[in-house]
Order: sequence, then C-alpha cells, then structure tokens
Amino acid sequence: MNHRILVFYGSYRSDRMGIRLAHFVVEGFRARGDDVGFIDAKTVGLPIIDRMYKEYPKGTAPEALETLAGQIRNADGFVFITGEYNWGVQPGLKNLTDHFLEEWFWRPAAIASYSAGRFSGARAATAWHGTLSEMGMVVVSSTIAAGPIAHTLSAEGKPVGDGGKALEHAFPRFADDFGWWVEAAKAQRAKRPPPY
Ligand SMILES: Cc1cc2nc3c(=O)[nH]c(=O)nc-3n(C[C@H](O)[C@H](O)[C@H](O)COP(=O)(O)O)c2cc1C
Repeated sequence: MNHRILVFYGSYRSDRMGIRLAHFVVEGFRARGDDVGFIDAKTVGLPIIDRMYKEYPKGTAPEALETLAGQIRNADGFVFITGEYNWGVQPGLKNLTDHFLEEWFWRPAAIASYSAGRFSGARAATAWHGTLSEMGMVVVSSTIAAGPIAHTLSAEGKPVGDGGKALEHAFPRFADDFGWWVEAAKAQRAKRPPPY
C-alpha cells in the first residue's frame, strides 16, 4: 500500500551523523513503495520559535511554515530520526515540531533513534515519545535504534558490520507495525472525520 510518509531529522551540526539513519529510513520506506518526503530541519532553517503556525492570521505565515503545514497535513504518518544530546532531544528538531500542533493530529508516528554510543539514543527516544503523544500523534511501540551509528551505517546510509545487520533485521517489523497503524488511522479518518 502506498502511504504518504514524512521523515524528520533535526541535527544542525556540521559533522552530523544522524543523516545516515535518515537516508537508511527514507530508502527503506521507498523500497516498500511508500511515498516518502524528507524534512531536514537544518535546511528548512526556522528561527527559534516566536509564533506557532496557527498564531499567524490566515495567509500571513512565513512561506517555510506554510509549506511545512501543508506537508504535515497531507501526510499519513511521521517518522522521527532522533539523536541524543545530554540525555535529551535535539533542539533543531524540537523547535521545528513545536511550530505546529493541530497539523499533527490523528496520525501515527514512529521513532528511529541513534547515538555515538551503544545506548543508541534510547533516552532521547523516550523523551520524544511523550512529546509526540502530546502533539496528537499515536506513537507506535516498535522502534529502531542505531548505535554506535558510525559503526552501523556508512556515510551513504548503508548498513555495515554487526550493527548494520541488526538494524536491517529490525527494519521490516518496525515498518510493518508503523504501516499497519498508518492504514488503520487512514481508514478511520475516511470512515468518520476526527471529532475535533
Ligand atoms: C551536545 C551533544 C551532547 C551529546 N550527548 C549525548 C548523550 O547524552 N548521549 C549519547 O549517547 N550521545 C551524546 N552525544 C553524542 C551524539 O550521540 C553524537 O554526536 C551524534 O552523532 C549526534 O547526532 P548528530 O551527529 O546527528 O548531530 C552528544 C553529542 C553532542 C554534540
């Protein structure tokens, strides 16, 4: 089934590593036939939040916000590539997501975490779970985790070594779980419009 999936990544670092996992995830969903959009918060380049998208009178939001709002509303589900800074979330991605609220509602989200170490960003993934729930997404229980990312994925996002094998092995179940919820939410939205 062809789902419209948006993949988000938010490191602003010059030597960022999480882009490897972003490539892996984008390619993985495309190979399954999904229509995948990639949102790189650094490229979008939003300033630190002042007004949320909805706080702008209709038609007056900056172009980047207007475009993103349309992309988010149009998606069937979201995948968040989450790195870990000091046991917490990366500010660039959090800043981007905070600009929106209702635009996220009634769709599932999945978390793919990573870090330089063996914990693979698990603490940031835990933090994101609550944040995404608060923003009206249903977070699926399956996750994938890459760590140490440098020994798991090549610069092109191809699996390497034992870590890469484990990630490749975990991906289909993760994608199946997420895809099932994407379909379920889509069917329910078609059957009955969301209550608010
Ligand atoms: C400010 C900062 C804080 C970090 N804190 C953690 C941490 O708490 N746990 C962890 O496993 N790795 C930590 N790391 C290492 C990151 O996992 C690693 O640098 C990773 O590649 C960061 O993602 P990015 O390269 O996509 O920016 C930290 C790195 C930075 C730059």
